[in-house]
Amino acid sequence: MHCKSLFLAGLALLCAACTAKPEAPAIIPQPADITVNEGAFKVAGAAFQIEEGIPAEAVKAIGDFQAQVERVSGKKAGKGSAIRFLLNENIGPEGYALNVKPDGATVEASDFNGFFYAIQSIKQMLPVAIYGDKPAKGNWVIPCVSIIDSPRFAYRGLLLDCCRHFFPVEEVKKVLDLMAIHKMNRLHWHLTEDQGWRIEIKKYPKLTEVGAWRNGTQVFRRAETDSTRYGGFYTQDQLRDVVAYAAERGITIIPEVDLPGHMIAALASYPELGCTGGPYEVMQYWGVHKDVLCVGKEETFTFLEDVLTEVMDIFPSEYINIGGDECPKVRWKDCPRCQARIKKLGLKDKDGFTKEHYLQNYVTARIQKFINDHGRKIIGWDEILEGDLAEGATVMSWRGTKGGIKAVEKGFDVVMSPNTYCYIDYYQTKERDKEPYRIGKYLPAEKVYGYEPMEGMPADGEEHIYGVQANLWAEFLKTPEDMEYQLLPRMSAVTEVQWCAADNKDWDRFRASLDHMAKIYEQLGFTYCKALWGQIGMPGHEIPARSAAELDTLDYNKVPFMEE
Ligand code: ACM
Ligand code: ZN
Repeated sequence: MHCKSLFLAGLALLCAACTAKPEAPAIIPQPADITVNEGAFKVAGAAFQIEEGIPAEAVKAIGDFQAQVERVSGKKAGKGSAIRFLLNENIGPEGYALNVKPDGATVEASDFNGFFYAIQSIKQMLPVAIYGDKPAKGNWVIPCVSIIDSPRFAYRGLLLDCCRHFFPVEEVKKVLDLMAIHKMNRLHWHLTEDQGWRIEIKKYPKLTEVGAWRNGTQVFRRAETDSTRYGGFYTQDQLRDVVAYAAERGITIIPEVDLPGHMIAALASYPELGCTGGPYEVMQYWGVHKDVLCVGKEETFTFLEDVLTEVMDIFPSEYINIGGDECPKVRWKDCPRCQARIKKLGLKDKDGFTKEHYLQNYVTARIQKFINDHGRKIIGWDEILEGDLAEGATVMSWRGTKGGIKAVEKGFDVVMSPNTYCYIDYYQTKERDKEPYRIGKYLPAEKVYGYEPMEGMPADGEEHIYGVQANLWAEFLKTPEDMEYQLLPRMSAVTEVQWCAADNKDWDRFRASLDHMAKIYEQLGFTYCKALWGQIGMPGHEIPARSAAELDTLDYNKVPFMEE
C-alpha cells in the first residue's frame, strides 16, 4: 500500500472511531428511553448520597446495594464521585431517571419500585459478579447513559403453581429474586388444588394434615401413579416471611384460592363440603375433576369466608384471586341442595348458559362481596365471565385471548395470560422427544416475546389491560431444576411484553441482550433451557424415549384452543 492509500485508510479508521456510537448496555426489559454517551462512571468506591424524603424501604434497598458493591468489589464507598438518589415527584409510578456522567450519577424516582428498578438497571450494567456475594475482580464501571424508564403495564405477573408439585420456600425466594431483576411486580401464587392444599389455615387444620398430601403422583400420562406419598405446605409464618421478602423486591403476592372447582384436597379434608359427601381422596392424577364444592350448603360459604379471612390476614394484596376456572357442573345438577339453591334464586337457563353456570355466578358474586367488604378486590379466570359478572371484578384471560377481549368489551379490567403465548409450562423446543416430558405443545421464547396484548382488543382497550402474566403450572415439574428450566429464558421474554411499549420491542436486540442475562442466570445458579444457544434438552434429566408422533397421540391434555 503506498502512502496516499495508507493516509486514506487511517482517515477512515479515525472517522469510524469518532462517529461510532458507544455500545448500548444489555438491559432486560429494555428501558423506555436510553441514550448512551462516551465515557464511564466508576461505581466501586463511589459515594452513595441519599436525599431526605426518599421512602424508607428505598433507603434500605440503596443501602443493601451499596453493601453488595463494597463486598463484591472490595472497595469501600465514599471516596469516589457520588451517585445521588433524589426524590422526583414528577416521575410516575415505578418509573425512574438515571443519568450517568464520568464524574457522577443521579437516580430519580417517586416511589420505592422506581428506585429499586433503577438499581436493577445499574446492576445489569455491572459485571455479573454483582449478583453474587463473593469478592470478584472487575472494573466496576457503568457506561455514561441517560435513561428515562417506566413500565407499559402496571401488573407484571408470574403464576407459580406450588400445588401439583411443592417448591420449598428457598426456591420460591429464588424465583422472587429473578422477578425483581426483571422488574416483575406480582407473584400469583397458586396455593390450593385438587392435588394438594398448601396454605396452613388455623381454623381448618385438616386442610394441611390431610389435604396437603397425596398417596401417589401420576406417572407420565399413564393411568398409573408412583404410589409414593407426596406433599407439603407452608405455615402461616413461612407465608408471612415470603410476603415480606417479596415486598422488599417491589413484588406483591396475590394468593389464589381456586373455587368452587379444583377443591378436592379440601373435600378430602372436610367431605361434608361436597355434594355427595365423599369419601374423597387428594387427587393423584392431573386434569379437571367433577367433584367440586357443594354451593347449596351454607357451611360451604362459612368455610370459604373463614379461609379467606385468614388468607387476607396473611396476604395484604389489594387483589385476591378466587380462581373460578374449570368447574364442572355435573354434581350440582344431581344435588338436591344445589338445585334447591337454584330454585330459591330463580335461576334459569339463559343466553346459552345453564342455570348451573348462573349458580357459579352467584358464588362469585357472594365471595366478591365478602372480599370487597374487607377492602379487597377479586381477580378470577375468564370462566367467571360466563353468564353474569358483577362490576369491579378483574378477569384473567387464559383460554386464548378471547375471554380478555370480551371482558374489555364489557368494561372489565383484564390481566392477559393467554395459554397461546403465556403458558410457559409448554414445551419450548419442537424436539419434544429430546425434552423432559411436559404438558401442552410448542411455545418458544420468540412466540412469547411476540405477544402483543392489544391484538384483537377494541381501540380504546389498553386502559383496561391491567397487565400480562406468564403462567408456570407444575404438573410435570418435579424438581426446582425442572421449574427453572421451564421459566428461563421465556420469563425474560415475557418481561419485555409487560414492560416495553410495542415499538420498543425488537427480537434481535433482545436476543443479543439475552447472552448477558444468561450469564446472570448462571451466576445465580439457575438451570435454563439452552435451545437458543443450540443445545436441546436438559442435561442429567432422564428422558423417556417417546417420538413426537407418539406424544401427540397420547396427549390427553391437548387443549383445542391452543391452536388458536
Ligand atoms: C387454567 O389454566 N386452568 C387457568
Ligand atoms: Zn351440592
